[in-house]
Amino acid sequence: MQTLTLTRPDDFHLHVRDGKVMESVIMASARQFARAIIMPNLTPPVVTVSQALDYRQRIMSCLPGDSSFNPLMTLYLTEETSVEEIQQARESGMVYAVKYYPAGATTNSENGVRSLQRVYPVLEALEEKKLLLLVHGEVTDPAVDIFDREQVFIETVLAPLLERFKGLRIVLEHISTRHAADFVMQGPETLAATITPQHMLLNRNALFVGGLRPHHYCLPILKAEEHRLAIVKAATSGHPRFFLGTDSAPHARARKESDCGCAGIYSAFNAIELYAGIFEQAGKLDRLEAFASHYGADFYGLPRNQETITLTREDWQIPATLPFVEDEIIPLGAGEVCHWILQ
Ligand code: DOR
Ligand code: ZN
Repeated sequence: MQTLTLTRPDDFHLHVRDGKVMESVIMASARQFARAIIMPNLTPPVVTVSQALDYRQRIMSCLPGDSSFNPLMTLYLTEETSVEEIQQARESGMVYAVKYYPAGATTNSENGVRSLQRVYPVLEALEEKKLLLLVHGEVTDPAVDIFDREQVFIETVLAPLLERFKGLRIVLEHISTRHAADFVMQGPETLAATITPQHMLLNRNALFVGGLRPHHYCLPILKAEEHRLAIVKAATSGHPRFFLGTDSAPHARARKESDCGCAGIYSAFNAIELYAGIFEQAGKLDRLEAFASHYGADFYGLPRNQETITLTREDWQIPATLPFVEDEIIPLGAGEVCHWILQ
């Protein structure tokens, strides 16, 4: 197959940051995707509807006038989030979900939730107002091995949460383990998962190939090969509760190549082309469109996009670095050959 035409895809998990960083990354996503769920972990975090609407305005002002890219906003859940804010979020028509970061789990999560019980009234409001809960599914207990944090989260936090909030739609973001894939596959209709390109392309050896590789460091951390295979299998299974979410998380090169490097992999540059390569490699190119363009919209209760995009089979080299504000950024797959190109 030499060309592939798909319904224009959506990215259901995207970090675009703010200010000059946003200016340097936003067009990459707008070129490929019709809509994106915008993560709220700015500093300070996006905790109110008014902040989310202002943030959306700033994103829109970075886009050319003829762009139809639609940023779908989220709120950052804190123990202070009020039920009224959820009500307002629903009324705004622009805020689709609330992001739950266990405090300390990842980049800019300090203001996240320590005790889930404290936010039960907010979760009830989400359930009632039919907004989604997006979950960074890792426990933060430093005694738990970093490679086990997703599995332990599923057992100790997510399973009881689903039991208690039976009508709440939950997305377990950026799944990285066989446990997560199995759990979602067997879980209720209210549970879905996003899958990133890095968790399908790389296993944990990629963190240490010939030395320490900070540009492969993200959270959840890359896992062993059996988990990578399980994630590829889930994404390409045709199961409607697995869909595309890049978790593209830009950090300047200097912030990653440091004695305490930031977590996050920048994949927005050519995400859909990477996903096409992964699905082709798995022999499941015919399932890319549903994963990238249908299932996420269906789970969120959004209309599917009308427009299409066309990818062509062509080898090209992903740049080793890209300009990024006053620094550079290293894209996922830097220097490697990509087999698909978006027209
Ligand atoms: O690797 C990550 N980077 N994981 C996250 O959960 C957050 C993200 C970021 O914001 O940089
Ligand atoms: Zn993220």
